[in-house]
Amino acid sequence: MCGIVGYTGYENAEGIIVDGLKRLEYRGYDSAGIAVLTDKGLQVRKKKGKIENLEKLLMEESLTGTTGIGHTRWATHGSPSDVNAHPHLSMDGKIAVVHNGIVENYVELREDLAKNHGIKFITETDTEVIAQLISVKYGENGGNLENAVRDTVKMLKGAYAICVIAADTPDKIVAYRKDAPLIVGLGKKRNFIASDIPAVLKYVKEILLVENQELVICTPEQVKIYNSEGREVSREPMFIKWSIEDAEKGGYEHFTIKEIYEQPKAIKETLMRRIDDEGHVKLDGIYISAEELNSYDKIYIVACGTAYHAGLVGKYAIEKMARIPVEVDIASEFRYRDPLVDEHTLFIAISQSGETLDTLEALREAKSKGARVLSVVNVVGSSVARESDDVFYTWAGPEIAVASTKAYTTQLICMYLIALYFGRLRGTITDEYYSFVLKELEAIPEKIEKVLEKAPEIENLARHLYNRTQVFFIGRGLDSAVSYEGSLKLKEISYINSFAIAAGELKHGTIALMEPETIVIALATQDALFDKMYSNIVEIKARFAHVVAIAKEGNTKIEAESSEVIYIPQCADEVTPLLSVVPLQLFAYYVAREKGEDIDKPRNLAKSVTVE
Ligand code: AGP
Repeated sequence: MCGIVGYTGYENAEGIIVDGLKRLEYRGYDSAGIAVLTDKGLQVRKKKGKIENLEKLLMEESLTGTTGIGHTRWATHGSPSDVNAHPHLSMDGKIAVVHNGIVENYVELREDLAKNHGIKFITETDTEVIAQLISVKYGENGGNLENAVRDTVKMLKGAYAICVIAADTPDKIVAYRKDAPLIVGLGKKRNFIASDIPAVLKYVKEILLVENQELVICTPEQVKIYNSEGREVSREPMFIKWSIEDAEKGGYEHFTIKEIYEQPKAIKETLMRRIDDEGHVKLDGIYISAEELNSYDKIYIVACGTAYHAGLVGKYAIEKMARIPVEVDIASEFRYRDPLVDEHTLFIAISQSGETLDTLEALREAKSKGARVLSVVNVVGSSVARESDDVFYTWAGPEIAVASTKAYTTQLICMYLIALYFGRLRGTITDEYYSFVLKELEAIPEKIEKVLEKAPEIENLARHLYNRTQVFFIGRGLDSAVSYEGSLKLKEISYINSFAIAAGELKHGTIALMEPETIVIALATQDALFDKMYSNIVEIKARFAHVVAIAKEGNTKIEAESSEVIYIPQCADEVTPLLSVVPLQLFAYYVAREKGEDIDKPRNLAKSVTVE
C-alpha cells in the first residue's frame, strides 16, 4: 500500500522519480503524484488512476529540477482523486510531503491548525495535516527543515513514513519513519529515499535500512541518520545483488511464497489497529448498539472461494462467542435463491479484492431486502467497500499472487475480532474468556513464524509426493473449514485433483476411494475432537493410504498411525485455523514448484473475478 520515492542529485528528478514509482506499482495504488523543486518553487503534478495518467500530465507540463519526491497512493482517508493524491503542499506552497500510513489524531490536529493558525485545508486526507504542521514548525524553527520535521512527528499518532522537501531548503530531503518501511539508496552525487528497494535498484546497489523513529537528511553528497534522541547513527550499507524483478518479490522466488511469509506482519497490522489502550476490540468506528445487535435474528456471511472459507471459520467464531445463528453462503448461490433476508439480518460480505461480481451482487440483493451490510475487504475504496454500510479492512497489504494466502489469515483475524466484539456487547462471553482469546490472537504472529520454520520439512514432503494425482483433506469442526482452504490452495496452483471433506462423512461414501496411492492430509488440531479424529485416521490407515497429519505439538500419539506429522505450536482450539493453514499453503506452494507450474498466475484464473 502506497509507495514513496525521493531523489536528490544533479540530474533531472522527474524521470527518475516516475521510474521509481513504477517499480512500486505492485504494492497497489489508486493515484500517483510528484513534487519537484524548480526555479519557480515547489511544483506538483498528480493524477488519479494509473501512473500513465501522471506521465501524460507530465508530458504536457513537465518539471525541471534536481530534487523531488513522488508517491503512489492507496486511499485511506478520502476517496481516490486528483486532489487527495500526494504530494500535499502546505498552504503557503513551501512545504511538500508524501506519506505512507495513517495519522490517527489528524482530526484534532486539523481543528487546531484551522483554529489557531488560520489554515484552510483543501483535501480530505490526514497527510495534508502533516504538510501544514511542518510549515508552522518550519517558521518556528527559523527555516530549519529537519527540526521542523522533528517537532512535527512528536505530535503525530499512528504508523507512518514521510518524505519532505521545502522550497527554501534546496537539495535536501528530510524523511522520518515510524512503523512503516523506509530505505535509503546510496549513490555517487545522488541519493534516494524510498519505501521499498525496487524503487531505487536501477540506480544504486547500496541500501541503508531506516529503523523506527529515525530521521534521515539526504542531500546529493551525503546521507545522515539520527535516532530518536537526536544522535547521529552510523550504519553499514547492505549491498543488494537481486535483479529489479527479484527485488519486487523481496528476494523470494514467487509472490505466493513472499505473501505466505508476510502473514505474521500482516496479522500484526490487522490486530494493531483494532485493540485500544484498554485491551478492547474497536471496530474502526463501526457503531452497532447492543439493542441493534439483539434485533438481528441471523447473520449471513457471503463470499467466494478463499473468502468463503474464511466465512466458515467466522460462523464458528460468531456462533460460539456471540450466540447468534450464522449462515455462510457462496455468493453465486445466495443471490439466485431468494434468500430469507430482511431488516433483522446482518449481512457480512468478505472479499480480498472488493470487486468480485458475485459477492457484489449478493450484497446488493441483501441491501435491497433491508439488511445492514458490513464488509470485510482488503482493497480500500473497492466496489464492495463503497457499497457497504460499514467496512472493516483486513490491512493485509497488496496481495499480488492469484492464490490468496495472507488475505485469508487476515480475514480470519477480522472474523474473530467481530465475534469477540459482538460477544462482549451481548454479554455472551465472560471478560476472562474475551481477554483469553485476544491474548491467543496476539500470540499468533510469533507462532506462525515457528510454523514457517518448518518450510524445509514441508518442501521435502512435497518433493516426495508431488506426482500423486489424488489428495484428500479431512478434519472435524474448525479443522474441516481449514481443509476446504488447503484443498483449494493445492488444486489452484498445483493442478492436483484434491477434495476436502468433514472427517465424519468419510465412512458415508468417500472412504471407497482410499487406496495406497491416495494422500490424506488429516487435520487433527482440535483437542476436543482429537479422539474422534484419531479413529478416522486409523480407518484410513487400514486402507493403506498415505496419511500426513497436522497436529498440535505434544500430541505425539498420532505418529503411530501417520506417515508424517507436521506439528503446529500449542494454542487454543478456537484459533488453530490461523496456524494449521500455513503448512497447507506451504505444501501447495512446494508441490506446484516441484511440478514447475506458473505459481503466481495459475492457468484459467484471475486475481479478481469481475464476471459471473
Ligand atoms: C483464492 O486463492 C482464489 N484465487 C479465489 O478463490 C478468491 O478467494 C475468490 O475469487 C474471491 O476473491 P475475493 O476475495 O477478491 O472476493
